[in-house]
This record gives sequence, C-alpha cells and structure tokens, in this order.
Amino acid sequence: MTANREQFGSRLGFILAAAGSAVGIGNLVGFPVNAAKNGGAAFLLLYAFFVVLICLPVMMAELAAGRNSRKNPLGTYRHFAPGSPGWLIGGWLALITPYMIAVFYAVITLWITGYLTAIISGNLQALTDPDYFAHFVSSPTIFVYLIAVAALVGLILHSGVKDGIERGAKIMMPSLFVMLVGLVIFVLTRDHAMAGVQYYLIPDISKINAQVINGAMGQAFFSLSLGMGILITYGSYMDGRSSIPGSAKMVALADTGVAFTAGLMVLPAIFSFNPGIDPGTLSDSSVSLIFTFLPKIFLAMQVSVGYVGASIVAALFFLLVFFAALTSLVSIIEVPVSGVMDQKGYSRNRALATIGITMFFIALACGLSFGMVDFFTNFAHYGEASHSLFDLVYDVFYDTILPLNGFIICLLVTYRWKKANWNAELETGEPNYKGSLLERYSNFALGTFIPVILLFVFVNTVLNKFFN
Ligand code: PHE
Repeated sequence: MTANREQFGSRLGFILAAAGSAVGIGNLVGFPVNAAKNGGAAFLLLYAFFVVLICLPVMMAELAAGRNSRKNPLGTYRHFAPGSPGWLIGGWLALITPYMIAVFYAVITLWITGYLTAIISGNLQALTDPDYFAHFVSSPTIFVYLIAVAALVGLILHSGVKDGIERGAKIMMPSLFVMLVGLVIFVLTRDHAMAGVQYYLIPDISKINAQVINGAMGQAFFSLSLGMGILITYGSYMDGRSSIPGSAKMVALADTGVAFTAGLMVLPAIFSFNPGIDPGTLSDSSVSLIFTFLPKIFLAMQVSVGYVGASIVAALFFLLVFFAALTSLVSIIEVPVSGVMDQKGYSRNRALATIGITMFFIALACGLSFGMVDFFTNFAHYGEASHSLFDLVYDVFYDTILPLNGFIICLLVTYRWKKANWNAELETGEPNYKGSLLERYSNFALGTFIPVILLFVFVNTVLNKFFN
C-alpha cells in the first residue's frame, strides 16, 4: 500500500498546499487585530521570534515524521511506537483534533459563503444591520450553504492529493495573493490610511505582558497549522527530492507574509473609514470582526467609491477569506480521510463518504447551536457561563489542545524515533541542510525547551479558560 501512496506533484505544489492550509482566517483578521492591539511592531517581532524559534522546528518534526512513516498521524505514532498504548494517545489526539476543528471551521466557512453571496446579490447594506448576523446564523438558509461547502470540499478531496488538493491550492493561493495586494493598494491610497499603518507598526513595548506573550505563541502555533496532524499527513505525501527544512521555511515565510500583508489592509481600512476610532475597542474575536464589524467598514467606503464600488471591495475581501478558509478546510478534512484510508484500507471515496457524512451531522449540530435548538445552544457549563456546542468545540480543540499535541510530537520525534533518525530524514533532499544552523538548533531545541514551553502554554490556557 505504501508504494502506491499518493504524492504531491512538485515542490511548489506542496508548498502552495501547505501554505494554503496555514493561511486562514487567523492570518487575515486575527493576526492584524491582535498585533495592533498588543504592541504593534513589538508584537510582530515577538511573533516572528516564535515562528522561527519554536514553530519551525515543530513543523519540521511533523513533516519528517509523516514523510518517514508514509502514514496518517495515528499510523505514524503506531509506526514509531508499535504496541505502546501511551504513544497511541498522541496518535488519536492528532486524528480527533482535526476532525473536530474541521466541524467548526466548516460552520465559519458556510457563514462566509453566505455573506459573500449576500454581497454579490447587492445586499451589503443589509449586512450592517446589528441583528443580521444573529438572524442569519439561526436561519434555515445555513443548511443550503453547508451543503454547498460540503460539496465543494468533497469534490476537491475526491480528486485526490495531486489533482484535488494541489490543483486547488495552485489556483486559489495565487488568486488570494493578487486580491490581497490589490486590496492593500486600494486601502493604502485612501485618506487617513497612514494612521492605521502607524498604529499597526509603531512598537509599544509597554503593551507586552505575559498574556500577550502567551497569545502570540498560540497565534503563531495555530496559524502554521501545527498540532493538527495536517503537516504529518502532508509530509506523508512529500517525495524525497526536496528538503524538509527548505520547504518548511518557505511555508512559514508565506504564512507570516500573508498575515503581515493582511495587516496593511485591515487596519488602514478601519482607520481610514473610521477616523478617530479607539483600537482598544476592537473585539478580540475574529468571528465578530468579520461578520459584524467589517461589513460596516466596507459600507463606509461608499463615500469614496459609491455603493457598487464598496460592494466590489467587500466581495473581493470575502472571496479572499473564502479561498483561505476553503484551502484550510480541505487540509484539515484530509487528515481523518487519510486516517480511515490507511487504518481501514478503504478507498478514497469510501473514506471520504464515511468522514464526510458523520462530520456533516456534527457540523449541523454546531450550526444549530446559535439559538435554533436549545440543547445545542446551552450545551456545556464552564468558566461560570453556559456555552454552545460550537463554543465548546472551539475552546477545547482550537484554543487549547494544539500545544499539547505539539508537545507530544516533540517527545515522539526526539525520544522515541530518536534524533539521529530524524536528522537523516531532514538531510534527505535538496537543498541539503546537513550540519546547518537550523538543523543543529532544532536538534537541541526540540528535545529541551520547546516541549517545556508548549506544555506551559497548554496548562496556562486550560487554567484560564476552564478554571477561572
Ligand atoms: N492556519 C489556519 C488559520 O490561520 C488555521 C487552520 C488551519 C484552521 C487548518 C483549520 C484548518 O486560520
């Protein structure tokens, strides 16, 4: 079976697919707003520091483990630690986490699809009504969009790694980048835009505290799609010709580059069309920013480009977010699909149908947890409030568990697979990184302070979120 494993067609194809996974809603909205609120350039530096010193070695560990085992995450843990139930917990977590993240990410993607459709139909104005979002997420039309998103993702994954995932990324990623640059140019040429750039980039060290450091670390980790089993899976589809450190560097650079560039658009847009706004009042939640705040900013643009012009800008932005979300969603659903293919020996279509159908119903339950069904709306009680099923899935799987998964993969690679074997995998392919600073650094860091930091972030988040 290993000999027939699907593969990416080229190094560029792999990089675009992995960057497609990494570039998501977090880059386009979460990062810029977090940076602006938490010290501007000081946050940026901190973030870049984490990407290079912590995330890059973990990314290399996931890719190398996948390429060496040629298996999905569970198969990878079984491959390196056969018959050891302790390690299998890591394997199961790396399969269940993406499954659950996919469920809530699908819900956000369907909302984006709904908003995009509304804007294209000329209804930008309606989106700025304060009740629109609450009304929309609890209306039966969400079923239509869920079916549309499921069909699109299903089509891409049905076509396989090279003809589906890679081809999709090769179309969507360059278009995403062109739209982003176009929007940046448009926004930067508006009045007052420079106030936003200043706010984004002027360093303010006094804003940096323990919570901000924790936040920058968490943001960097999930932005690079770490701890979700995605890079183990994508690693298993890489050939041996290109080096893992070289490819990982490109993916990290692309992801950080898009996040940074998105900041040059989102913040100047906010400042230019809302001069005098106090950035401290911006919401921390990407969801409320995208769906309730940004439509107002886009509508305000009509003073300079008219209603149709404003609608075009808004539509481009939502299309951008839609592409970013779709490539991320595809990557994350591929993890359990490859899991079922490997572990059960199912064909791609049968695995896709099994995963897709079960996921569809859980996504539906999450979609119904915004008022339509009380059981799902008030599903759990923690941190002194009641939470919906959607919130629970988000809090546990997106916000909390990723550093734990990262911690386990660090231990697996350094102490079970062993550094010498890991190095041999890193040194396979061109350009060769044998003896490079990156390799030597990663060797030291992955077995020592990186897992300690990840464990610390995990414990800190659990305490803050569930026990305060
Ligand atoms: N990196 C993505 C983001 O920034 C996170 C993600 C990846 C979410 C893959 C889901 C699936 O939004």
